[in-house]
Amino acid sequence: MNNFKRTLITTALPYANGPIHIGHLAGVYVPADIYARYLRLKNEDVLLIGGSDEHGVPITLKAKKEGITPQDVVDKFHGIIKKSFQDFGISFDVYSRTSAQIHHETASEIFRTLYDKGKLIEKTSEQYFDEENKQFLADRYITGTCPKCGFEKAYGDQCESCGTSLSPTELINPVSMISGNQPVLKETKHWYMPLDQYEPWLKEWILEGHKEWKPNVYGQCKSWIDSGLLPRAVTRDLDWGVPVPVEGSEGKVLYVWFDAPIGYISATKELTADWEKYWKDPETRILHFIGKDNIVFHCIIFPVVLKAEGTYNLPENVPANEFLNLENDKISTSRNWAVWLHEYLEDFPGKEDVLKYVLTANAPETKDNDFTWKDFQTRNNNELVAILGNFVNRALVLTQKYYSGLVPECGNLTDSDKETLKSISTIKAEVEKSLDSFRIREALKNAMDLARLGNKYLADEEPWKVVKTDAERVKTVMFVSLQITANLTICLEPFLPFSMNKLRVFLNLGKLDWVKLGDTNLLAEGHQLNEPELLFEKIEDDVIEVQVQKLLNTKKANEIAQSKATPAKENIEYDDFSKMDIRVGTILEAEKSSQNKKTFETSNRYRN
Ligand code: MF3
Ligand code: ZN
Repeated sequence: MNNFKRTLITTALPYANGPIHIGHLAGVYVPADIYARYLRLKNEDVLLIGGSDEHGVPITLKAKKEGITPQDVVDKFHGIIKKSFQDFGISFDVYSRTSAQIHHETASEIFRTLYDKGKLIEKTSEQYFDEENKQFLADRYITGTCPKCGFEKAYGDQCESCGTSLSPTELINPVSMISGNQPVLKETKHWYMPLDQYEPWLKEWILEGHKEWKPNVYGQCKSWIDSGLLPRAVTRDLDWGVPVPVEGSEGKVLYVWFDAPIGYISATKELTADWEKYWKDPETRILHFIGKDNIVFHCIIFPVVLKAEGTYNLPENVPANEFLNLENDKISTSRNWAVWLHEYLEDFPGKEDVLKYVLTANAPETKDNDFTWKDFQTRNNNELVAILGNFVNRALVLTQKYYSGLVPECGNLTDSDKETLKSISTIKAEVEKSLDSFRIREALKNAMDLARLGNKYLADEEPWKVVKTDAERVKTVMFVSLQITANLTICLEPFLPFSMNKLRVFLNLGKLDWVKLGDTNLLAEGHQLNEPELLFEKIEDDVIEVQVQKLLNTKKANEIAQSKATPAKENIEYDDFSKMDIRVGTILEAEKSSQNKKTFETSNRYRN
C-alpha cells in the first residue's frame, strides 16, 4: 500500500429511480467519505468519484407507468440524490451520471475496443418477447411456476420460494410482468463476455493475489469462481441505454451492468483532463466502495472487461459492506420501509453528523446490522452528548469562565498529565491502523477514545473543585484539556466534519493536517477562543416516538394494501369443508434448515 502515489475511490452509482436512504449511506457513501477525508487530511492525492446509474429496465418501466420518458425519471432522481449527498457532506470530487454524453462515448469506446480485439462472443439465442409491448423481457420481468417446487410466482432468474436459480425458459406458464400476457420465444443476437476464459486468471489475481480482501468479499468471489463462470451477455434488446456501437445492432443497448462501472471512468474524465493518471498509472490505487450485492460485478465482471481491454488498472481492494436493516426488517423502496435522507433532514435539521455517527458506529461491515430509532437516540445521548459534547463543552465553558476565553499557560505538567497527552499519539496510531484496513466502525470507536480520555481527565481532575484551592493547577488542567479538544478537531474530522467545523470556530482554530494529530501545543498560551455553543443536544423520547410511529403507519398501510391485493376467497359449501382433514398439534422441536442457504447467499440473480 505504501508504494502507491495516489488513490482513486469509487462509490457504487445509485440507480436514479428513487431517492436514497440510510442503507445506501451506511454501506457505501459514509465509509468512502470518511476514508477520502482521512487521506486528504494526510495530504494524499485522492479522488472520490460518484454518480447516478441511469440505465436499466426498471427505469424504463417506471417511466412507462408514469407516462413520462426515462430521461424525465433520471433527471428528477439524479437531482434529488445529488442534493442528498451534498446535504450530508459526502465530499465527492465529482458526481456525474451515466446519461451524460461523455459516459456514452466512454462506454461505447470500451465496448468497441473489446469488439475489435475479438474479445467478445456473438451468439443468437431464443428469448422471451412480449408481443403487446414489442419488447424482449429481462429475466426479472417474467414470472411463472417453479419447476422444482411449484411456487407460482417464481422469477425468470430465480425462485424466491425454494432458492433455485432458473432460466426463464424453465418456468412453467411464463407470464410477462409488463403486459400480463404469455410471452413468445424469439431469436435475438447478443454479445457475450466469455468469463469462463478468464477463470485461471481470476484464480490467480483474486484467490492467490488478494487474500487480504475482506472475508465476505473474498468468500463471495471464491464461491463464484469455484462454481464455474459462464459467458455473460453484455448487450440487451432495449431502447434506453448506450447504443451498441456495431453495425446491425439497432434496438440494442449495452447491458446496464456493462456500462455502469465504466461510469467511474467517465466521471473521472468529466473531472479532469488528467484522468488517465488515475486509471492507468500503476502507482494509482483503485478502491471500490460498494454493497454486497455488487461484489460479483466489481470483483469479477468489471475487472475482466478492463483486463480484456488491456490498458486499465484493476482495483486494489473492494471493501464491500453487508446490508443495513431497519427496525428488524429489510429496507425496501417498494414497501417504503426506509429512512429517506431528505425526510430525515426535514425532521432533524442540522443533525447530519448524528446520523453519520450512528450509521458508522453500527456499520454493517462484517454482517447485516439493524438501525433502530432507539439505538439512534441512545448513541446520540450517551455517546455524542454525554462523552464528546460534555467534554468539549466543559473545557470551553470553564476556559471562558476562568480566563475569559484565553488559553492559560501550561505550567508544570505532572507525570499523569504527560501520560494523558502521550495517549493522544497512541490513539492516533490505533485510528490509523483501523482506517488503513477499512475497519471504519472500529476507527470511529478508537477516535472517540480521545473524547473519552478528555472526559475522564476532567472528571478525575475536577478543576471546578480545585479552583478553590490551587489556581495554578487549574491552569495546567485547562491547558491539557484544550489541547485534547484541539486534537479532537483533527481526529474526528473524517467522521464528524460538520461538528468539527463548528468546534474549530469555537476554538478559533484553522483546519489542521493529520500530521498535527498528537501535537500537544496546538493552542498557544494567550490564544483567544470564541464563545462556545452546544455541539450536540439530547434527543428526547417524544421525538423518537414520532419516528417510530411513522414506521408503524407504514407497516399498517402495507398490511392494508396487502389484504386488498389478495381478496378473501369465496365461501365454500359445508360438504367441501367436511372433506378436509384438519388437526391440531404442538411443535415439540425445531431446528434451522441449512437447505438453500448457499444458493441465497451467492444468489444467481444477475447471471443471465
Ligand atoms: N446501481 C447499482 C445498484 O444500485 C450499482 C451500480 S455500481 C456501478 O446496485 F458499478 F455500476 F457503478
Ligand atoms: Zn421453487
